[in-house]
Amino acid sequence: MSSQKKSDSIASLDQMAKFTFTKNGIEQTFEFPLLSQTLGPEVIDIRELYTKTGYLTYDPGFTSTASCESSITFVDGEQGLLLHRGYSIQDLANHCDFLEVAYLLLYGEIPNQSQHEKFEENIIVHTMLHEQLINFYQGFRRDAHPMAIMVGVVGALSAFYHDSLDLKDPEQRELASYRLIAKMPSIAAMAYKYSVGQPFMYPRNELKYAENFLHMMFALPSYDYQVNKTVARALNKIFILHADHEQNASTSTVRLAGSSAANPFACIASGIASLWGPAHGGANEAVLNMLKEIGKKERIPEFLNRAKDKTDPFRLMGFGHRIYKNFDPRAVVLKESCHEVLEAVGVKNNPLFELALELERIALQDDYFIEKKLFPNVDFYSGIILQAIGIPLSMFTVLFAVARTVGWVSQWREMIADPVQKIGRPRQRYIGPSQRQFNPVKER
Ligand code: SDX
Repeated sequence: MSSQKKSDSIASLDQMAKFTFTKNGIEQTFEFPLLSQTLGPEVIDIRELYTKTGYLTYDPGFTSTASCESSITFVDGEQGLLLHRGYSIQDLANHCDFLEVAYLLLYGEIPNQSQHEKFEENIIVHTMLHEQLINFYQGFRRDAHPMAIMVGVVGALSAFYHDSLDLKDPEQRELASYRLIAKMPSIAAMAYKYSVGQPFMYPRNELKYAENFLHMMFALPSYDYQVNKTVARALNKIFILHADHEQNASTSTVRLAGSSAANPFACIASGIASLWGPAHGGANEAVLNMLKEIGKKERIPEFLNRAKDKTDPFRLMGFGHRIYKNFDPRAVVLKESCHEVLEAVGVKNNPLFELALELERIALQDDYFIEKKLFPNVDFYSGIILQAIGIPLSMFTVLFAVARTVGWVSQWREMIADPVQKIGRPRQRYIGPSQRQFNPVKER
C-alpha cells in the first residue's frame, strides 16, 4: 500500500491510500481517501471498500477499526495521554469539579462561573426519582447485585419520563441527558440502601455531586451525617477519572444501541450491562477479589505464573489495556490518591494497598508483562480507594457506571447529531455450512 497525494485541488485536505490486490493472476489497484486526525494515526476511509472491490475487512474486537468520528476524548496509548476536549486528565482530575468536566464533555468547553452554576441548577432539579420507581426496588432480592438493579431501573426510566424521548427534539435530548446524569447517583445509592435494608435517603441539593452521593449512601434518618471533605474530594476525582474513554466496549454499546434510535434511557442501560463485565468495568471489583485471594506477598509469584499460563483462564485483573501500552495515566493519578485518602481516613497501612504495590512492582519487572506491555489500568487502584472510603465491593462497578454515564450521554448526543451516522450493522466472516438439502425427519 502506498499513500499518494490527491490532485492539487484537494492536496491540502487529505491524501489517497492505494491498495494493489493480485487475485487469479490479475492485479487490481484501488484508492481510498486517507483522512487525517487532529491527533493520532491517519485513517483509511474504507466505507466504499465493498462496493468498489467486493472485499470485506475482518477485525475482531475492532483493534484497527474506527467506528465513528468524535471530538470528545483522545487517548494516546504509547504516550499514556488522555485528553477530554483537549484538556489533560491530570489537569481536570486535580483542578475540576465533576460537573465542570460533565459540562466540558457535553458542550466542548470548560464552563465559566455562571455557566457552571446554571448547569448545576439544571442537574440538581432532577436528582429525585419518580416516587413509583421506588417501588421498583421492592421486586429485587436484597442480595441482588446492584449492577443488576442499575440495569433494570435505568432501563425502566423511559416508562416514567415520556417528555424526554423524542430524539428529533434537541430540548428533549438535553432533558434526558440531565435526568440521566442527575439520577444515576440516586439510583445507585438506593441500590446500596436496599441491599443493606436501610431506608432510602433523598438527595440534598445544597451538596456537590460527590458529596450528595456520599450523603445518600451513608446518611441515616437517625443521625446527622457529615460528609468527609477529603473523601468527597477523592470521590470527585474518581468520578472524573472514569467519565469517558473514547470508544470502549460500553460506549460502543451505547452508540450501537442509539444508532437504532432506541430511547436514551434504554441506551444507557445497555452501556451499564456492557460495563459490568470483568474484562471492562467489572475489573475494579475483580481486582479486590483477586488481592484478597492472593492474601500475602509470598503468594504473588504463584498468581503471576497463573496469569502467564495459557491453560489457566486466570488473568491479572487491573492489568493490561487495549490502548495503553506504557501506563494508564488514570492509574498514576489514583495511585497517588491512595496515599492521600488512606492517610485522611486514618488507615496507616492498608494491607491490600501494600499487596497491590508489591504486586505491581514484581509484575513490572517480569518479562511476560514487559513483553506484552501489561501495566496497571484505571481499575487496579480505584478499588483500594473505594474500599478505604467505605464503599462496599459490590458497588465499585456501580460507581464506574455513575461516572461513565456522563461519557455515554456525551457520546450518544454526538452520535445523534452526526449527519453521517447510520444504524450500526457490522458484517461478518461466515464460516458455517454452504446451502444443503433439507430432509424430513423420517429420512434423517
Ligand atoms: C477498562 O477500552 C477501554 O478504554 C476500557 C477502560 C475504560 O475506561 O472504558 O479503560 C476500562 O475496561 C480497563 C480494563 C479493565 N480490565 C481488566 O483489568 C481485566 C484484565 N485485563 C485483560 O482482560 C486485558 O488486558 C484487556 C481486556 C483489558 C485488554 O485486552 P486486549 O487488548 O484484547 O488484549 P488481549 O486480550 O489480546 O491480550 C494481549 C495478550 C494476550 O496474550 P497472547 O494471546 O498474545 O499470548 O496479553 C495477555 C493476553 O493473554 N494479557 C494478559 C492480561 N491482559 C492481556 N495476561 C495476563 N493478565 C492480563 N491482565
